[in-house]
Amino acid sequence: MDRVVLLVVGLLTACVASATPITSTFAEENPIRQVVDGLHELESSIIQIVGNCRPALTFARFAHRYGKRYESTEEMKRRFEIFSENLRMIKSHNRKGLSYTLGVNEFADLTWDEFHRHRLGAAQNCSATTRGNHKLTDVLVPKTKDWRVTGIVSPVKNQGSCGSCWTFSTTGALEAAYAQAFGKGISLSEQQLVDCAGAFNNFGCNGGLPSQAFEYIKYNGGLETEAAYPYTGKNGVCKYSSENNAIQVLDSVNITQGAEDELKHAVGTIRPVSVAFEVVTGFRFYKGGVYTSTKCGSSPMDVNHAVVAVGYGVENGVPYWLIKNSWGANWGDNGYFKMEMGKNMCGVATCASYPVVA
Ligand SMILES: *[C@@H]1O[C@H](CO)[C@@H](O)[C@H](O)[C@H]1NC(C)=O
Ligand SMILES: *[C@@H]1O[C@H](CO)[C@@H](O)[C@H](O)[C@H]1NC(C)=O
Repeated sequence: MDRVVLLVVGLLTACVASATPITSTFAEENPIRQVVDGLHELESSIIQIVGNCRPALTFARFAHRYGKRYESTEEMKRRFEIFSENLRMIKSHNRKGLSYTLGVNEFADLTWDEFHRHRLGAAQNCSATTRGNHKLTDVLVPKTKDWRVTGIVSPVKNQGSCGSCWTFSTTGALEAAYAQAFGKGISLSEQQLVDCAGAFNNFGCNGGLPSQAFEYIKYNGGLETEAAYPYTGKNGVCKYSSENNAIQVLDSVNITQGAEDELKHAVGTIRPVSVAFEVVTGFRFYKGGVYTSTKCGSSPMDVNHAVVAVGYGVENGVPYWLIKNSWGANWGDNGYFKMEMGKNMCGVATCASYPVVA
């Protein structure tokens, strides 16, 4: 259990370092360099040696829970510092009692820059959707909507360390459209989009747009299943085979840029819709409630993350969009979040579109 030993040594150094200067040989000579098994022993060792250094204990639990592996004591110390910084930010936010809360998650040992680099695509220019083609009808738009209760929303996936959110937004919308049209679930290939949709202004792990992915599928002829073309989370060579087509896109419908009434009409009366928005620093630690921000922008050049709007509602008097993310089911509110509705918050209605599959 080298990892655990390293963790203890790293924390010890980091915790004591602020009070006492430590010689470089300290870690080498430390008596706790022995096999420590499991979290309980890890915690007791830390308490025993570093006393009431609570952030270190929290960090130990975090590292254990998310199976973190750090390559050196230096790296461990750096991650502990970043973690402590993020933890302070999370606690300070939660003390304010705003409409949403933050919590520690697997991203808590990353700086914003690292997170931005590995999880978000580069901002894409989505002004092609300036003139939408969604048709408003007289159909009554329900007051609240949650497509999950109809069973057409597929399970939350995890994009990993690749800016491929746009492919998950695309498959998320398509999986729901398929279930709605054909009465059965399906899991579709993100990797095919990462590898093959470049001719439609998409850039694999460096970003893209769901509307352009729908266009790719429409003109390419189809999309394979997750099983036929599995996710690797890396840019790769296109291995698409038309024999494996599992779904066709007959058409895609763009919401007029910024028109939340159109978006509400579409989500309320048609089906889940691919949307994009701008992720700013604190968002990655979202835990629950209705997210709102004064820091994010709403222009077509601001949005940097694509997701799927699967409903809307009102919480404590604040209207919200219910949105499915692709950062795993443990992130946020079971993989979902709520975003304030009515202000084109973070550009949630700037770059929205949905597919027609039947
Ligand atoms: C974005 O795209 C629109 C239309 O395709 C174009 O007119 C505009 O100049 C682009 N903006 C930037 C900043 O590239
Ligand atoms: C929707 O937007 C995409 C680009 O984002 C564009 O290629 C497509 O032509 C648009 N569709 C319609 C029907 O305007």
